[in-house]
Formats: sequence, C-alpha cells, structure tokens
Amino acid sequence: MRPARSELRIFRNGAELARAAADEFHRRLLLAGAAGRRFTCALSGGSTPRALFKALAAREVRAALPDEIRRSLHFFWSDERSVPPGHRDSNFGMACEILLRHAALPEANIHRIPAELGASLAADAYELELRRFFRLASGEWPVFNLIYLGLGEDGHTASLFPGSDVVGERHRLAAAVRADQPGRERITLTLPVLNHAACVTFLVAGAQKARILREVLEASGPDRELPARLVRPIDGDLLWLVDREAASDLPDSGPWP
Ligand code: 6PG
Repeated sequence: MRPARSELRIFRNGAELARAAADEFHRRLLLAGAAGRRFTCALSGGSTPRALFKALAAREVRAALPDEIRRSLHFFWSDERSVPPGHRDSNFGMACEILLRHAALPEANIHRIPAELGASLAADAYELELRRFFRLASGEWPVFNLIYLGLGEDGHTASLFPGSDVVGERHRLAAAVRADQPGRERITLTLPVLNHAACVTFLVAGAQKARILREVLEASGPDRELPARLVRPIDGDLLWLVDREAASDLPDSGPWP
C-alpha cells in the first residue's frame, strides 16, 4: 500500500537538507497550532539529525515561535539506547545538548524514554506514557504529527534491525531490543506506531548510505530483511530528505515502492 504522499527530495549537502527539514517541521507545527492542536514529534538518534537539531535551535527560529505554539509542542523519541540520559550514546542526551536546552519547552512536553531502567522496564514505562498521553484504549495506536527516522547501512531504522523479532511486533507500542552484548540493548517504537503517523520523515546523508537507500527505495527483495522498507504510513506522508551523496546510486527515474 502506497502512503498518501511519498516524496523524495534531494539536497546539495547536509546543511541544505537540515534547513529544509527545519522548514517542513515549522510548516507542520504552525499548521497544527493554527488549528489549535498540539504537535507531537518523535526524534530519531544517530548523527544525521544533529544538523536538523542545530537548525531548529537557531536563535532566529526560536524567536519566531509564539509561546502558545511552543507550549503545544511535545517531543518523544523514535528509539533510545539502554544508557542513562547523560551517556554519550544517549539519543535524548544528544537532543538535549543541541536542541532542548535552547527550546524552553515545559518539562511536561519532553517525553523521554527512561532508558536507565533497563530496556525491558523502559519499554514498559514508555508504552504506558504513550497510552496516557494519547489517551489510547486497548487496540488503539498513537498518531504522531511527525516521526523522524534515520537509515542504517544494514537497512535498520529506529531500533528495528534486520532479522529482529521486534520488527514483527504488532501489538506493543514500544519494545525492548535485545543485543548480543550487555549495555547494547535498545528501546524502540514499533512498526505499527511508525505506520500510524501523520508524517514520517527519513533523514539520510552521506555516500555510505547510497547503496542501502537505493535498495530500500526499490521494491524488489524480501521486506523483512530491510525494516526501513516496511515504513509506509497507512494514512500519512512519507518524506525522504536526502543529500546528493546518499542519492548518488539512485537512477534518475526515482524508484518508488
Ligand atoms: C539510533 C537511530 C538509528 C539511526 C541510524 C542512522 O539510535 O542510532 O535510531 O536508527 O537513525 O542508525 O544513524 P546515522 O544518522 O548516525 O547514520
């Protein structure tokens, strides 16, 4: 099933990609604000989002946000590593350092994954928070305004890794991801949550992603091997914001699932 609107945009470099992603973020945030609705955004981890967070934290950008819009903005995470928030590998810690400490959001608007509890308890706690915040009855899914995702060179996204049983999770909102060594566990949003979002935006940059980006965007091959290819919002937009290096393997026609 094809998402309502799937779009690939290619940018000259990471800086232009980040600016465009920030512009799209604000467009959607202001649209929700104009309708008097809150805006829920799940941030991804890894290195690619750093440039976006810097663009969102820029002084002139923050100044342009009216207070009532700022108060309507809620941040969540697409996934987290099983480390304390101050750890160098923490996705929350990275977002805090670059964006949140400048954003002046109410503490209640930051919905951190409590990874210091350990992956299993953190996933349970995050799931409870999602059910509370989105006021979900059993069997209902949260509808995020915007979920950011990255793309790993093995085709993973969030912490949905090829061959992991969590990729097939169809009941939980958040799940613990076992790892082959202690301390490498993770917590992730599950695929149904990603596919119920109003918009999923992949941020992909660098020549090292060129091969996997083409594989993911091409329809051939078993889906299960490339979890990123399973992300297809049921009633939402799918945006791929990529830089020219990551797009260097794509044929001009632009393959779409
Ligand atoms: C994480 C992310 C992960 C990431 C990809 C791409 O916690 O690391 O959720 O899915 O988005 O691995 O990472 P880069 O942006 O560093 O290439």
